[in-house]
Parts: sequence; C-alpha cells; structure tokens
Amino acid sequence: MNAPRQLASIWASGQQHQRTQRAGRYTKASTEHPAKMPPALAAHAIAAYSRRGDLVVDPMCGIGTSVVEAMHLGRDAIGVDCEPPWVDMAVDNIDLATAQGAAGTGSVRCGDARDLPDLLPLGAVGDVALILASPPYGLYGHARVRTYTGPGRLAATSEHPFIHRPHPGQLALTGPDRFAAGLAEVLLACHEVLRPGGFLVLTGRPYRAAGLLIDLPGELAATAAVCGFDLHARHVALLASWNDGVLRPHHSFFGLHHARRLARMGFPAHLCVHEDVIVARRPR
Ligand SMILES: C[S@@+](CC[C@H](N)C(=O)[O-])C[C@H]1O[C@@H](n2cnc3c(N)ncnc32)[C@H](O)[C@@H]1O
Repeated sequence: MNAPRQLASIWASGQQHQRTQRAGRYTKASTEHPAKMPPALAAHAIAAYSRRGDLVVDPMCGIGTSVVEAMHLGRDAIGVDCEPPWVDMAVDNIDLATAQGAAGTGSVRCGDARDLPDLLPLGAVGDVALILASPPYGLYGHARVRTYTGPGRLAATSEHPFIHRPHPGQLALTGPDRFAAGLAEVLLACHEVLRPGGFLVLTGRPYRAAGLLIDLPGELAATAAVCGFDLHARHVALLASWNDGVLRPHHSFFGLHHARRLARMGFPAHLCVHEDVIVARRPR
C-alpha cells in the first residue's frame, strides 16, 4: 500500500483530457456511455487501495473502465452492469486489454448490483479487496443530452439509442427515495462480498435536480456508514489539468452551457472540475 498517496487529499487525475486517456485503450463505441469514470481516476484509486493480484469488483461498471484499469495494473477484476448494451461494450474493452497484454484478468456479468453475492464466483465472496464504483445519478447517468430548438435550451431525456427498455433496477431512473433505498441495498451487497479490511471507493459529485442541490457525496458516505462501513478517507479527484499553479478544465460544450444556464437562472452554479471520492472500509 502506498501510504503517501493514501494521505493525499487531491488526486491529479485530470492531467490529460479523457479522450486522450481512452485513445487506443477503449473501443470507439464506448463513447456512447454518458457517464464514464475517467480512466486516470480509476487507475489512481486502484493503485492506492489494492495490491497486484488482488480482486477488484465494480458492481455498476458501465463500459468497464475500472475493470480495464485494474487489469492493466495487474489486478483481477469483475464488473457487473444491469444493461446488456453496456455489458457488451465492457466485454469488448476487456478483450482489448487482454490483447494489449494486461497482466490481470477481467470479466463482466449482466445483472443487478443488489444481487452481487450471487453474481460473483463462489470463491470470490468475502475475498474482494476493493470495490470501485461510480453510482448513477439523475437522468445524466443514463440519458442522452439533447438540444432543442429555441435560444439556448437544453434538456436531458431518458432515451438512449442502445437502451430502449431500461432494466427495472436501473438506479439512474428512480426518484430520490428509491435511489437511496437501492443504493443501500447495493452497499449491503458490497459489504457481503468484501474481505474484512477491504475498501469501498465511491465517486460522485453534487448535482442539481429541479433547482435543488443534491449532496451525492454526502449521501454516499452516510449510506456507507449505515451499511456497516468505517469511513476511511475523502479525496478530490481533479477532472482538470493542474500545471504551474493553473487549473485548466477539460469541460464539454454541454457542461459549460449547463453551468452558464444555471447561473443565468440565479443558481450559484460553477463548472464542476472534480469528483468527490469517498473511501470506506469493511471493518476487520
Ligand atoms: C455512472 S455509470 C458507471 C460508469 C462506469 N464507471 C464506466 O466507466 O463506464 C453507472 C452505471 O450503473 C449502472 N446501473 C444502474 N443501476 C444498476 C443496478 N441496479 N445494477 C447494476 N448496474 C446498475 C448503469 O447502467 C450505469 O452503466
């Protein structure tokens, strides 16, 4: 375990644009997923909170970023996602990592994260060293952002070219109460499969819904505590590059547009250039 890294509270995980981080390492089709974890963030978390040969699991793995990065770092990894199109893309990304000589093995299963103990191989339950996940939040976790005609109007819909009928357990499409209950069920399942002392690393950021500021990182930490985890650390993972004291965001057009629109409407919104990282631990 790399102690200085663990103690650092800010991760320089945005030195390169996500496009550059993914180039040649992920299939082009992967761009279709609207809420991917930056590969450098995943790699930093895996390096800090697991060792070579450990088993890493992502119960909501999307196109498999955490699985692929774990494989390249010599860990064995298993991903789960409830939407078959993302699972197919994760399979392709895992195959690519294997073809590129990744030292670890990777696999992915289609299912509900709440059933994690049943989805993992028998020997893996109670032996997982690290669970790394970015839970979905709001429509942006599952929707394609569409512009509509009219001056500067922007909206998100739940439609997606790949996912016509979302899985009934899809957490991105629930209201706040069902999301909270679903998240708790997922974290209880994570607790069951982690080995004693194993780490749970969750990423997320506050967001606005219907004008309200939702403290997703706070909700992740509080739910982990209720589910029996010890809170271990909290980090800030930069999505902007940091050079010579200057922060340079790699924002998308839509991200900037959204922040400006909220500011015009009177909300004190800024362009968000970081993810919060909540680290919890299954007690020994
Ligand atoms: C924020 S995305 C994670 C993206 C992933 N880290 C990546 O880099 O591609 C959240 C994912 O959780 C999945 N998901 C939502 N509810 C789920 C559930 N109940 N069980 C399994 N996966 C779920 C969604 O389909 C989505 O792909």
